[in-house]
Amino acid sequence: MAFKVSFIAVAVVAAGTVWLFSPAISPPLVPEYTLASDEATLERGRYLVNAGGCISCHQGAAGGLSGGMAIESPFGDFYASNITPDPVTGTGDWSGSDYVRAIRHGRSPEGSFYFPAFPYRSYAAVTDEDALAIGSWLNAQPAIANEVPAHGVPGWIGRWQLAAWNTLAGIGEPPPASYSDPQIERGAYLARHLGHCGECHTPRNALGISNYSNEFAGGHMPDGHVPAINSEAFRSWSEDDLALFLFIGLLPDGEYVGGKMEPVIEHNTGQLTDEDRQAMAAFFKRGL
Ligand code: HEC
Ligand code: HEC
Repeated sequence: MAFKVSFIAVAVVAAGTVWLFSPAISPPLVPEYTLASDEATLERGRYLVNAGGCISCHQGAAGGLSGGMAIESPFGDFYASNITPDPVTGTGDWSGSDYVRAIRHGRSPEGSFYFPAFPYRSYAAVTDEDALAIGSWLNAQPAIANEVPAHGVPGWIGRWQLAAWNTLAGIGEPPPASYSDPQIERGAYLARHLGHCGECHTPRNALGISNYSNEFAGGHMPDGHVPAINSEAFRSWSEDDLALFLFIGLLPDGEYVGGKMEPVIEHNTGQLTDEDRQAMAAFFKRGL
């Protein structure tokens, strides 16, 4: 009897595991893409790297985007990779498809999952074209040899869990919204996806999965609370207040924002065109 019960238990767990893993386990199909080297694409790529906030995490003490910075999380410290085209310690031999697969699908060229400290669930709705322009720009930068530290996470955390994690995360995730106003549509793309504002500002459950039914309602970081940036929070802000904040970090009460928001202003929103900042402001004021 004991044997039978434990056999059933094992079978149920095994079936559940297969069910959990199956949708996410096969590597995503990405078309064959070649990296571009024309000026126009590289300039677009440079702009999109700013819009994607890549610099906040990947800038390295060794220079450029050579990585090594610790990204703190409740699960431990994750070290951002070297994404300069160094063939040994960076992404030197990557194809266009490899960049698209990493940025949009969170998979390495070998098919294994990246840890979601790399905010690829937000980047999933970035277009292939934009991800490819980002890859093309990265590939055109000077190669810097820099071996980044191994992730500082407890032994029970491993890449093998990430297929199930991604499947679970996908269940509560709304499909990308679309808006009839092209300005709001652009703002949503920048805020939700490239700018990944929700990675810090949307609350997460105990597994670290974002709760989209409370989008932008405020989050937690190891060093403290992250304020809400939903319609309620912006009630007394005008669209222009918000656009100015995204440019220089000035709050309507005359104070400048600090903490983990400072690099976002410096490397990301502060580097964009006025038009793009205004689009994000329109999204938060009228698109939420
Ligand atoms: C919040 C911090 C953060 C941001 C923002 C971020 N990354 Fe990363 N990235 C990471 C971490 C951490 C890893 C390592 C993940 C792992 O080892 O599983 C990583 C890994 C990568 C890799 C894989 C490198 C390799 O050698 O396998 C690429 C490519 C990459 N990031 C590109 C980007 C690009 C492009 C952007 C901007 C659009 C970006 N990242 C934004 C933290 C970040
Ligand atoms: C790396 C995490 C992180 C990301 C990404 C991030 N924020 Fe923040 N943000 C913070 C933190 C932390 C604060 C609080 C800073 C402080 O006051 O010390 C903050 C503050 C703010 C504030 C001020 C709120 C108030 O009432 O004081 C606004 C507005 C804001 N962020 C908007 C955004 C937008 C828009 C994006 C996306 C472009 C974004 N943030 C991306 C962490 C982040």
